[in-house]
Amino acid sequence: MRRFLKYFFVLLILAFIGIQFIEIEKTNPPIIADINAPAEVKNLFKAACYDCHSNETKWPWYTSVAPLSWIIEKDVREGRGHLNFSEWELMKSDKKAEYKKEIWEEVNEGKMPLAIYTYIHPNAKLDITQKNIIRQWALGNKSN
Ligand code: HEC
Repeated sequence: MRRFLKYFFVLLILAFIGIQFIEIEKTNPPIIADINAPAEVKNLFKAACYDCHSNETKWPWYTSVAPLSWIIEKDVREGRGHLNFSEWELMKSDKKAEYKKEIWEEVNEGKMPLAIYTYIHPNAKLDITQKNIIRQWALGNKSN
């Protein structure tokens, strides 16, 4: 049994080393049309959303460690696919309004930022005051 465990752990370590060679794409495409929102709103988005919903993703060292890197890369790819603040100003105003509503919904229900993210980035957790700032922006009638 001890022998088996020994081989098992050696295999596990080799597998861990092996998967590090599977490359992921840590891209940051050009910022084409970054959102033009009041600074207090934008700063919240930058702190809590930009890593997954913009082309300004920060890629610290642990984003290179598989299998965590795979999860992060997928979240960023999917996050950008749903909402990309770096392309926000390309949208027509009715589209923006739609997205604003959706943003407030996600934030209000505590679904965004993703829990896995706030676990690693506790500062990204939005408190009630911060949520209210987003609410006012999202449900107000201003065009930006
Ligand atoms: C760790 C990555 C991550 C962070 C941080 C993050 N999101 Fe997301 N977001 C995703 C992913 C992945 C999806 C798509 C899958 C899903 O809905 O769970 C998504 C989807 C969304 C959607 C679209 C929902 C839909 O149904 O189409 C909105 C709106 C959104 N996020 C807003 C935000 C806002 C606002 C913040 C910051 C307060 C934020 N997200 C932070 C990863 C993230």
